Amino acid sequence: TDTLTVLGIESSCDDTAAAVVRLNSTATVLSSVVYGQTGLHADFGGVVPEIAARAHAEKLDHCIEEALTQAKLSLTDLDGIAVTAGPGLIGGVLSGVMCAKGLSAATGLPLIGVNHLAGHALTPCLTDNVAFPFLMLLVSGGHCQFLIANGPDDFKRLGGTIDDAPGEAFDKTARILGLPQPGGPSVEQAAKIGDPKRFKLPRPLLDRPGCDMSFSGLKTAMLRARDGIVLEKQGLTKADQADLSAGFQAAITDVLVEKSRRALTEYLTLRPATPTLAVAGGVAANGQIRDGLQRLCAELGVAFTAPPLALCTDNAAMIAYVGLTRLANGDIDDLTLSARPRWPL
Ligand code: KG4
Ligand code: ZN
Repeated sequence: TDTLTVLGIESSCDDTAAAVVRLNSTATVLSSVVYGQTGLHADFGGVVPEIAARAHAEKLDHCIEEALTQAKLSLTDLDGIAVTAGPGLIGGVLSGVMCAKGLSAATGLPLIGVNHLAGHALTPCLTDNVAFPFLMLLVSGGHCQFLIANGPDDFKRLGGTIDDAPGEAFDKTARILGLPQPGGPSVEQAAKIGDPKRFKLPRPLLDRPGCDMSFSGLKTAMLRARDGIVLEKQGLTKADQADLSAGFQAAITDVLVEKSRRALTEYLTLRPATPTLAVAGGVAANGQIRDGLQRLCAELGVAFTAPPLALCTDNAAMIAYVGLTRLANGDIDDLTLSARPRWPL
């Protein structure tokens, strides 16, 4: 048959997710269920790998059942099982891989071990008919890199962060300013009424050629700026929070936009038929960053595309989609599939 249906499973960070995606001429997300864990890690200032792994192991079965129920399908209606096999927190990845292997062994369905980054990178193909090669800027809590997607299984990395990811920087900034987690949305909200010019914040690595980025110095600068105010007036006012948030967001946006300009310049030497910049990852939800990238693309005559928010952040539909492209090519794994904490594209 021409129609393929795959169950996707994702558990590489702090979201437990399952989804069913169908591919005939185009892809259709039949269901996409995501169970977050933010509450579980709230007291610890970051994702605790051991807590994450236990929560994944506990919730995976129910998450998968829910995805099948919402898709109005049972396991016997599927053509394959795709699971994130890395990169990510090893305990979580293992929970997902073990679960997928169990389902594959029990049903005889093909097993496909998917690279989480490929999932993010191909998300625009899931919702739009984006032509290869396109340039992908992946910006999330754990990742930050430019990838040229030449095909569903052919990526070239142009550069990325050498330390923190932007989402991590947003989350740390929120903690520094006493704003709620996840930091991205709360910093963006606070920045709305802030003056981005009040604090002089660095634009790390902009003076250096290439597409590599660095965000840890920005975090240190935020800490220093906050401590300066606290020392002076024993606390932060709403206006201080707003100005610091606006300054931080402007600095991150400047870096991402300027580095995108360089990545686009390199990408355009390939003379793509339909030049396209796509973004994915949780930070792609940020309005100012989106606007900056959109303006840059308009200036350079490049199409700009961002998947819907629910598919920008961690989800299993993107994993199922990669599974579908692999299954269609007969590129499947077997029960010896192993979890890979590090797995560059
Ligand atoms: O892709 P994602 O769900 O998970 C990872 O793979 O990391 O991204 C989560 C990250 C968090 O760091 C969160 O603060 C950030 O994306 N984020 C944002 C916004 N919404 C979420 N960052 C900036 N602006 C936002 N509006
Ligand atoms: Zn991710």
